[in-house]
Amino acid sequence: MSGAIVEQLVAIVGPANVLTTDLDRYEVDWTRRYTGRAACVVRPADTAEVATVVSWARRAGVALVPQGGNTGLVGGSVPRGGEVVVSLERLRHIGPVDALSRQVTVGAGVTIHDLHETARAAGLRYAVDFGARGSATVGGSVATNAGGINVVRYGMTRQQIVGVEAVLGTGDVVSHLQGLVKDNTGFDLASLLCGSEGTLGIVTAVRVRLVTEQPARVTALAGFDRVEAAVETMASLCRSLDTVDAAELMLDSGVDLVESAVGVSSPIPRAAAYLLVECSAHDDQSESLGAILGAAPGLSDVAIAVTPSQRDALWRLRDEHTPSINTLGPPLKFDVTVPIDRLAGFVSSIGRVVSDVAPKARTFVFGHAADGNMHVNVSGVVDRDVDVTDAVLRAVVAEGGSISAEHGIGVTKARWLHLNRSAAEIGAMRAIKTALDPDGIMNPGVLFAD
Ligand code: FAD
Ligand code: MLT
Ligand code: ZN
Repeated sequence: MSGAIVEQLVAIVGPANVLTTDLDRYEVDWTRRYTGRAACVVRPADTAEVATVVSWARRAGVALVPQGGNTGLVGGSVPRGGEVVVSLERLRHIGPVDALSRQVTVGAGVTIHDLHETARAAGLRYAVDFGARGSATVGGSVATNAGGINVVRYGMTRQQIVGVEAVLGTGDVVSHLQGLVKDNTGFDLASLLCGSEGTLGIVTAVRVRLVTEQPARVTALAGFDRVEAAVETMASLCRSLDTVDAAELMLDSGVDLVESAVGVSSPIPRAAAYLLVECSAHDDQSESLGAILGAAPGLSDVAIAVTPSQRDALWRLRDEHTPSINTLGPPLKFDVTVPIDRLAGFVSSIGRVVSDVAPKARTFVFGHAADGNMHVNVSGVVDRDVDVTDAVLRAVVAEGGSISAEHGIGVTKARWLHLNRSAAEIGAMRAIKTALDPDGIMNPGVLFAD
């Protein structure tokens, strides 16, 4: 069967673009927790070849796993056993930036970093940013509705999209890339595909809005004697300033690990909790930011970055959390939102929820405080993955939260989807899935538990 699959795919994309050996980077995810064997990897060149591959898969009854940068953290981008991985890495076309509408159309395989560079060269900015920017692709970020560090100001990926081209699970191509901001002509298919995690079709191109690049940027790292004080200060900053681009929370345990794992050191003394805040505007925000932080309750110290290298050093403390935690072995990762008024309590108590089930585990909590989005990473869980997951996700839901803020459900949380979604909602989602992917070939096992 596998020989026939390869032969038929070679006829569509050519021999150089059907891979059968050295598949590690396609078969193992970023965390190294999720892995499975692929029948092969196919690398189509454009939308037409993607459509031919999907139509072939329907006829052949072969399941497909779309893949971008393989940085997704919920197991949805790697095969589970015998699927064909459809890598979008060759779809790297970057169209001209339209300065009038402040939009650009890019191929699904363009990295977030390259989209940033394209926008910057035109004096603009792409508003979604996160640590995996160098490898994560635009297609993957649409499929997951990625969030990241600037959601507080600009919203998630869904808010940046003004059009999508995709091949549905039927093999049909839908293309709506005119970039009309006002366009009430029926269902918004771009929004539907955004966050669908490769279960409805394969995104091949995206038209995104770009925002004005603000020339004056200031970044501050503030230490606090308790988590509550950091959360209150974050809320007060967001109330007082409409120039806050990012407000990230870190704890002593995470900063300590980053310092020892990658040798980046904090410019301020150890604190129970840290807020990393960035503002940008036409005029310098240092004074307003400094004044609010200076009067904050529980503040122990603050460092303000004025040069790009100082700024990068502060951001490394935050960005290196994920890689540093991975040095302890593949962690159990949770990406959750709780209402802001529950945030401090949740951050302070979730470690106990974990240790009640897995006493030897180490829990790291950090994330996008302004969105109520915390990343709970647990290292050292042996044989209790399901119990720890169940306890953490139920604790989140008990606080009125969501079991996935920005990474998606993937395979890892599919069996807990019902904690956040009613039977009617899941029924509606399944009906959409059946309509757009009648043979169930698109990323089976992702989002919906079998
Ligand atoms: P992949 O990992 O390849 O795929 C992710 C999912 O999308 C899979 O289900 C896959 O099947 C599907 N998919 C991929 N491409 C397509 C396509 N063209 N069409 C249809 N389906 C497709 N995420 C955040 O939201 N915020 C963060 O702050 C953040 N920080 C991160 C930091 C690090 C260090 C790492 C490793 C990851 C981080 N992530 C974050 C998670 C990840 O980077 C995002 O989910 C990203 O959007 C995935 O993009 P990708 O191209 O790597 O997609
Ligand atoms: C981040 O914000 O760094 C990632 O989304 C998080 C993670 O590693 O859980
Ligand atoms: Zn995140």
